[in-house]
Amino acid sequence: SLPRVYITRQIPPEGLKILSESGQVQFDLWDSDDVPVPRKELLQKVKGVDALVCVLTEKIDAELLDAAGPNLKVLSTMSVGFDHLSLEELKKRSGIRVGYTPDVLTDSVAELTVALLLTTSRRLIEATHEAKSGGWGTWRTLWLCGYELANSTVGILGLGRIGVAIAERLKPFKVKKFIYTDVAPRPELASLIDAEYVSMDELASQSDFLTVCCALTPETKDICNKDLFSKMKNTSIFINTSRGGVVDQEDLYEALSSGQIAGAGLDVTVPEPLPTSHPLFTLNNCVILPHIASASYSTRNAMSALAANNLLLGLKGQPMIKELKL
Ligand code: GLV
Ligand code: GLV
Repeated sequence: SLPRVYITRQIPPEGLKILSESGQVQFDLWDSDDVPVPRKELLQKVKGVDALVCVLTEKIDAELLDAAGPNLKVLSTMSVGFDHLSLEELKKRSGIRVGYTPDVLTDSVAELTVALLLTTSRRLIEATHEAKSGGWGTWRTLWLCGYELANSTVGILGLGRIGVAIAERLKPFKVKKFIYTDVAPRPELASLIDAEYVSMDELASQSDFLTVCCALTPETKDICNKDLFSKMKNTSIFINTSRGGVVDQEDLYEALSSGQIAGAGLDVTVPEPLPTSHPLFTLNNCVILPHIASASYSTRNAMSALAANNLLLGLKGQPMIKELKL
């Protein structure tokens, strides 16, 4: 009989179509996109499956892998991030192969990052609120003033495909200089955008706009903390479209409310959803989006298709299109 697959979400149609039309698998799915599959149900459903498609709301840890059992050969996540996967536990169960979905979402994430940056630096949310709530008394000379990209220095924390794509889009705004930091220089990527490698301290002190583009790992957890914010300019804007876990949110709140930095735009938080009572929501200089960086129809369908194709290739014992090295 055909390999059994469980899909933890009603993923966009392209991926489901690929799986159905392949004739190579039989699958069952959590048939909703509005709520994640309850953990108990998930642990039941994965019993004995050969492969699993998941999204970033599912923790793939020892408990889940034990529940799935020894048939599990392929895990395919519809995401570029993989901090929801316990790589150590996956490695322990030798033979499990893991697919993910980089590259297809780079344009969408870069586009959203630029949108969030401009929304934050030019205070667009405050501005629309003022316009419709009666705050628009008259044209004023310094009212709702923000900061421009022209002649600015943009810092990238963690230079990868996405950081390069963001810089390419910002360059036409007349950015003066791109700088970046990472665990080591990345000359090939950096040369694409003429970015200079600097230390973390230099990144903090020189950036007018600091955008975080690194993966969340034990090394990058809370890397954006009091220490970093205290070295940033009072006029600087902080942007994060990677993972909430790279930011110490209490330190960020302090930096924003004290005027240590000018503003922050976040597409990711801890936890998600961020409770509506969270102090960050009380700040006018903090723009919070509900993790939508890759949310365009074309990209989400491409991610779905890539996750499906990775899975089918993995089950056939062939190299996946995008496979995580464990
Ligand atoms: C989104 O955050 C992803 O990891 O794809
Ligand atoms: C702005 O609208 C200006 O005329 O300066």
